[in-house]
Amino acid sequence: MRFVLATSNKHKIDEFRALLSPHDLYVVGNLDAEESKDTYEGNSLIKLDALVDHMFVERDGVVSDEVCFADDSGIEIEAFDGKPGVFSSRFMPGVAQDERNRIIVRKVAETGRNGAVFVSCISFFAGGKEIKRQVISRCEGTILSDEGAIVRTERDFGYDPIFIPKGFDRPFNVLSKDVKNSISHRALAVKGMLAALSDMHLI
Ligand code: IMP
Repeated sequence: MRFVLATSNKHKIDEFRALLSPHDLYVVGNLDAEESKDTYEGNSLIKLDALVDHMFVERDGVVSDEVCFADDSGIEIEAFDGKPGVFSSRFMPGVAQDERNRIIVRKVAETGRNGAVFVSCISFFAGGKEIKRQVISRCEGTILSDEGAIVRTERDFGYDPIFIPKGFDRPFNVLSKDVKNSISHRALAVKGMLAALSDMHLI
């Protein structure tokens, strides 16, 4: 099976490649898909529709052994009353991610409210059945409450340096890739997509 992903995010590409192995992954970046909805479901569908349209313009569509998909994800932080959610990539405009993470950690320390949850919604279109589906998954955890405990690594993706998944004592950027890829919101959504494709006898 060949999977075709709509994203320009290098971290998502790395994660999806590992999560979908041994299947092929082909990536289409820079699609014109404005994330104009305020739900993960709505925005992931906008990205998927842009990808499927692109497949029809570039080729003859989506062939039977291909699955096109896109994910919309975000983090919901208790100390910010569930924000930024679907607006995670645009939270605190003009503030770099490192500084954003420090501001969040300070707020958590101030309020003592350290809960957080990562969410991923994958929308996919299976060429073999011409069926569109969605899977939404969550990964619960807590936010660091000590700014001095933030560690920089080669794998710093978004809010990973400040998010400790439930059952662990270190943030996602410090835990191994294998750990993140077995418990993350994105890993669970991929599992759901693969299970649905298997139910449809497509994989
Ligand atoms: P979008 O799905 O392209 O709208 O972007 C979601 C944003 O949420 C990303 O740019 C990150 O800031 C954040 N995000 C989503 N998933 C993760 C993750 O696994 N680790 C860290 N940050 C994430």
